[in-house]
Amino acid sequence: MSALLEIKGVSRFFGGLAALSDVTFNVERGDILGLIGPNGAGKTTLFNVVNGFYGPSQGEVFFNGKKISGLKPHQICALGIARTFQVVKPLQRMSVLDNVIASAYLRVKSKAQATKTAADILHFTDLYDDRDVPSKGLPLGKRKRLEIARALATRPEMILLDESFAGLNPTEQNECVDIIKRIKGNGITIMIIEHHMKVIMSLSDRIVVLNYGQKIAEGNPEEVRNNPLVIEAYLGDTQGA
Ligand SMILES: Nc1ncnc2c1ncn2[C@@H]1O[C@H](COP(=O)(O)OP(=O)(O)OP(=O)(O)O)[C@@H](O)[C@H]1O
Ligand SMILES: [Mg+2]
Repeated sequence: MSALLEIKGVSRFFGGLAALSDVTFNVERGDILGLIGPNGAGKTTLFNVVNGFYGPSQGEVFFNGKKISGLKPHQICALGIARTFQVVKPLQRMSVLDNVIASAYLRVKSKAQATKTAADILHFTDLYDDRDVPSKGLPLGKRKRLEIARALATRPEMILLDESFAGLNPTEQNECVDIIKRIKGNGITIMIIEHHMKVIMSLSDRIVVLNYGQKIAEGNPEEVRNNPLVIEAYLGDTQGA
């Protein structure tokens, strides 16, 4: 059986800039794949290509053996890939519950079914007690978790997490690690962009490193941590961060 997600020779140009340059790697079913690299390396652009926000300028993306590059974001979401955004943007005035209900409608038709899905997900993400709070009233840690809850409510087979830990305090970080482990425990495949090295090294089964749009390394956390190219391009100034 082929890998769940296959990224094959993907490039993405913005004018003269190659935000992604001939990037190839796979994400295996059930794995957590960490995507790391310096600011501007192309990490978010790669998510945007995978979820159909941008088409690749060159190359192809396959999910479950089916070509998805060229499809629209809602079609890719319906096939089972959900994502969170680096800048959190839940529907601010809606309650936490209604935010998650809105996502749940992707898979179910009735209000009752959507509410049931949303309640389950809010329990799963430890947000149920906040269900009636307008989402803009949540502290950052919970807003980040709400983003994850909204993605989960679409019942994905794979979830793309873009900097879910940025700006979180240590307690909130630990809560987020727990939830990501729970998501993996449910058999959902995860690709995660993260600058917190301790988090990415402890969570990831495999890591891909981007630099100036190119894949410069791939391997298990130990291999990547000890790779001289990675240390020079990225880890040198973030070790221990
Ligand atoms: N829509 C766009 N138009 C023009 N340039 C873009 C666009 N999106 C991204 N870029 C450029 O592509 C490069 C990669 O950006 P990207 O956001 O993918 O980086 P990143 O690895 O996610 O960085 P960070 O860690 O800072 O979030 C950057 O030089 C960025 O300015
Ligand atoms: Mg980014």
